[in-house]
Amino acid sequence: MNGTQHEDRQEARPRRSRAWFGATGRSGMLYRSWLRNQGYGPDVFDGRPVIGIATTWSELSPCNAHLDRVAEAVKRGVWMAGGFPLVFPVMSTGETLIRPTAMLYRNLMAMQAEELIRGNPLDGVVLLSGCDKTTPALLMGAASVDLPTIVVTGGPMLNGKFRGQDVGSGTHVWRFEAEMKAGRMSAAEGAVAEGCMARSAGHCMTMGTASTMACVAEALGMQLPGSAAWPAVDARRDEVAQAAGQRIVAMVEEDLRPSAVMTRGAFENAIRATAAIGGSTNAIVHLLALAGRLGVDLALEDFDTLTRDVPTIVDLMPSGRFLMEDFCYAGGLPAVLRDLAEHGLLNTDQVTVTGRPLGELVADAECWDREVIREFDSPLQPAGSGTAVLRGNLCPRGAVLKQSAASPHLLQHTGRAVVFDSPEAYHAVCDDEDLDITADDVIVVRGAGPRGYPGMPEVSNVPLPAKLLRAGVSDMVRISDGRMSGTGFGAVVLHVAPEAALGGPLGLLRTGDVITLDVPARRLNVHLSDDELAAREPSWRQSAHAPAGGWPWLYARHVLQADEGADLDFLVGARGSAVPRDSH
Ligand code: FES
Ligand code: MG
Repeated sequence: MNGTQHEDRQEARPRRSRAWFGATGRSGMLYRSWLRNQGYGPDVFDGRPVIGIATTWSELSPCNAHLDRVAEAVKRGVWMAGGFPLVFPVMSTGETLIRPTAMLYRNLMAMQAEELIRGNPLDGVVLLSGCDKTTPALLMGAASVDLPTIVVTGGPMLNGKFRGQDVGSGTHVWRFEAEMKAGRMSAAEGAVAEGCMARSAGHCMTMGTASTMACVAEALGMQLPGSAAWPAVDARRDEVAQAAGQRIVAMVEEDLRPSAVMTRGAFENAIRATAAIGGSTNAIVHLLALAGRLGVDLALEDFDTLTRDVPTIVDLMPSGRFLMEDFCYAGGLPAVLRDLAEHGLLNTDQVTVTGRPLGELVADAECWDREVIREFDSPLQPAGSGTAVLRGNLCPRGAVLKQSAASPHLLQHTGRAVVFDSPEAYHAVCDDEDLDITADDVIVVRGAGPRGYPGMPEVSNVPLPAKLLRAGVSDMVRISDGRMSGTGFGAVVLHVAPEAALGGPLGLLRTGDVITLDVPARRLNVHLSDDELAAREPSWRQSAHAPAGGWPWLYARHVLQADEGADLDFLVGARGSAVPRDSH
């Protein structure tokens, strides 16, 4: 950039923000004058790119509570590159506090981001996210507007430390709970452990959904290479944020838009990267929804077929041993993408927000620790052990199972169904000594789908019955129309579609029915004929949880099933950035 930058710019294609700040007469005065109350001189309206920084900062989203600091670094970069940065808040949800589930609000968050990006005088956008739903929501909203966009995730927390051992946020909550239930850990010890997990700013540092979606954003080409893994408190988190601020200004000049970056090839890269890192099953729902915004042809089966040649090489909890800090020091996602490229498993020519192809960006990426990022020929899990997409008479529109998180002996299993109409119904009895259940039974928890709950919560990996835990049982087949936390594990069949609340076969099951799970054959069946299932339909009852009003009511009426990404039907697709009418 030089002294003539603004003259040069004005000769180029007219900038979107000029419709506001370049206006003459009363309107132009209104647009400029009020913004100047923040102390900006008239120079900021000289035609430089106006960059919106959409932040999901919130003290109620602990994983995003440091994003105000990250926003400052982005702003610095935007100023340095000759842009005009304006930070604006969008709705924020954290996984831990918001009820009934953050997923109920992902689409609302996306809708809000979309409307704010479109309605304001912006030429480009930087998306600041971190916690699980915030990254996909902002990507979905920005995709539906399709202005130049770059993502900056907030980075993971430092490794948790308890009694000299690494503990993973989320993953160890499940483990500690099981230990306490089995009587191997006292409540006092649990209270100490509680303070040792989330010990710095940042999102969960396991390979849960937040870390997965940060890696997905990078593999899609939507955030700068290496961004996903820098810890939130590392100075290089701010450095990449500053670089993103600088880069978005150039992206506006180049008119490099999400629709050019997030093509089918980019989705294939993201799906394979997710398999290589042992990522969360929630990426499936989020990527399907995002593809729907962009009109990219993506199907549930893609998550199975595209990953059959991809071993899990990243040894992170919940599937493995290490945490995001270790992953970062080992080389982070670029090292993984390079390994994929060298095995012919990366679409290397995909353009990224850098303007350069992904393959070029990772060609020289180094791995510094082959314990954390394994070699392809000594992986954590062999190729084909990632996400299995199941079909059968219990899930005509599909279901998924994360093989690397399941006990191998349960991947082919026949057992008696023990059916619960809601997660609460299970929790009410799961610790009863006289609960009629054995380790060979199949726990079915329904009523947890997008419409039925509503919001498709992360409740499917229900803890095992206490009496079985005490007997040393560590895993059982569980089946649900809900989701599982990315930090969870177990032989859990998730995302069953159609869900019980829609009258799907899952809603017709009864305790005592026999179910066969056959993961190698990708089948999930109940031993009932079509006629027997049909005969049960008249006795099926609608969920008692139907919302009476407000957002949950709108959501339940319009939410799509898991195999379509659980977006709202009226939000699918892109609506562009044009706003034909003015406010005054
Ligand atoms: Fe926010 Fe895990 S709770 S990332
Ligand atoms: Mg989660």
